[in-house]
Amino acid sequence: MRVLFVCLGNICRSPTAEAVFRHKLEQAGLAGLVQVDSAGTGDWHVGKPADTRTRRAAQLRGYDMSALRGRQVEAADFQRFDLVLAMDHSNLDNLKRLRSGNQGAELDLFLRRYQLEVDEVPDPYYGGEQGFENVLDLIERASDALLVEVKGRL
Ligand code: 4NP
Repeated sequence: MRVLFVCLGNICRSPTAEAVFRHKLEQAGLAGLVQVDSAGTGDWHVGKPADTRTRRAAQLRGYDMSALRGRQVEAADFQRFDLVLAMDHSNLDNLKRLRSGNQGAELDLFLRRYQLEVDEVPDPYYGGEQGFENVLDLIERASDALLVEVKGRL
C-alpha cells in the first residue's frame, strides 16, 4: 500500500502528515508494508527542508522531520500511489486537474475521509504558533483513522 499526502508548499502540512503517519506505522510494526510520501502542488520549496516552525512543533511531539525535502506532485504520482490525500479543497481541485483523464490512485480530502468535524487542515504558513499545533492535532487524529483503514487493506 502506498499513500501520498499533498498540500500547497510541501513544507508544513503534508510533510507533517508524512512524519506523523510514518511514526504510527512504525509503532504498529507496519513500516515495511506501507510506503509514505508527501508533495506540494506548488514548486517554491522543491528541495528545501520543512518549515522551521513546523519542524519545531513536530519535534516537541516526538516526530523527526529533519530528513524530509520538498517536492512537487506530478501526474505520474497517480500511478505510483494507491491513495492520494489532499489537505484542503484547493489542493484537491489542483490534484483533480493534474490527474485529468488518468486512472490510478484514489484521491480524497484527508480529514473528510475520516469524518473529522472540519474538512480542511488550515494552512498555518502566515499565522502564529497555534496554527502549527492545530495542524498536528488534526493530522494525529486523521492518521489514527488512516491506520485503521490501512490495516484493513493489507
Ligand atoms: P503548506 O504551507 O502548503 O502546508 O506546506 C505553505 C507553505 C508555503 C506557502 C504556502 C503554504 N507559500 O506560499 O510559500
